[in-house]
Amino acid sequence: MFLQFRLCRKWGLIPRCPPWSAGIMPTPIESHSLNSAHHTPFLEAPTVQASDGNFVLEPDGSLQQRSPTKIGPGRMGMNSQIIVKTTADEVASAVCEWLIEAIENAIQERGKCSIALSGGSTPKLLYEKIAENELHCVDWSKVALLWGDERNVSQDHEDSNYGMVKRAWLERAEATRQPRAIPQVYPVPVQTNAPDRTAHEYSETIRKVLGENNENAGSSSSASTLSISDRMAKSDLPKIDIVLLGLGDDAHTASLFPETQALQESENLFVANFVPKFEAYRLTMTLPLINAADKVAFLVCGPSKRAAIDVVWHGPRQVEKYPAQGIHPANGELLWFLDVAAMPERRQG
Ligand code: 6PG
Repeated sequence: MFLQFRLCRKWGLIPRCPPWSAGIMPTPIESHSLNSAHHTPFLEAPTVQASDGNFVLEPDGSLQQRSPTKIGPGRMGMNSQIIVKTTADEVASAVCEWLIEAIENAIQERGKCSIALSGGSTPKLLYEKIAENELHCVDWSKVALLWGDERNVSQDHEDSNYGMVKRAWLERAEATRQPRAIPQVYPVPVQTNAPDRTAHEYSETIRKVLGENNENAGSSSSASTLSISDRMAKSDLPKIDIVLLGLGDDAHTASLFPETQALQESENLFVANFVPKFEAYRLTMTLPLINAADKVAFLVCGPSKRAAIDVVWHGPRQVEKYPAQGIHPANGELLWFLDVAAMPERRQG
């Protein structure tokens, strides 16, 4: 029986359940997508070229890109990284580890941390991992949870993103009855018959949570007198510490769907967005707010996402058609956590 440990700032080395203890074995990486360099007991070691970056094989059999990369012409800045793991479960573990460290750093630097959560299947795995392994590692009472997007349904509806996070994570945190295990939770106050009002109210919540008058959210004077677009030009928008995002097969992210109004938004932080293919409203953070964040991470797994990633990284720049292309943090970091199945075949030499 192998035991994995992770270094926790507060408690030192703490054990972590390895995926295979839950019956999930590391899966071999498809050899046709890799160049062999050396050997490990269960798979061929790869060096995958992606633009100007290299992937290297980690001891756990996953691929990690070591150097910052630029994918596609001008598509990502130097502050971007791609982390490829063999399974969705390993992706969730890697994100979890990265997230905890980012939270610890934010709390150490500013005494608090804000996170915008995503809906979707891989983020759900992450929330379950937090509930299983991380409830006692950071001081969650200093962490504010916002929602990057929400469906226009009541909070107890099975499609509610808040409801998903509550079931996967928050109920278990609350069950501990320990204040340090329980984050500050700011769900979208959905009023299904008034999506614009919901969005307006949540914009105000976001401003308050991010403290428009502290140095993490721009200066109070500019917050009250300038428009979002003016503040954008001055890089003075409210700043979320960490934004988690999924990616749809159609290259949507958050609830920024192709050819929808919210993609044009330059005056609001959070809007109601009518999505014709669902004939329904979604509620979503806008590109200016997401791009002002300190760290933005995509969590993307499964073969159905491969074409979308390919077009976001390498396709012609058409944000209207491929909304995730619009994500490029102005002064922050961008991370892509993928499983091998989602990794596009195309690579640039
Ligand atoms: C939502 C989202 C959305 C999601 C993607 C990917 O509420 O549905 O926030 O942007 O992250 O559709 O979802 P999957 O990971 O489930 O494919």
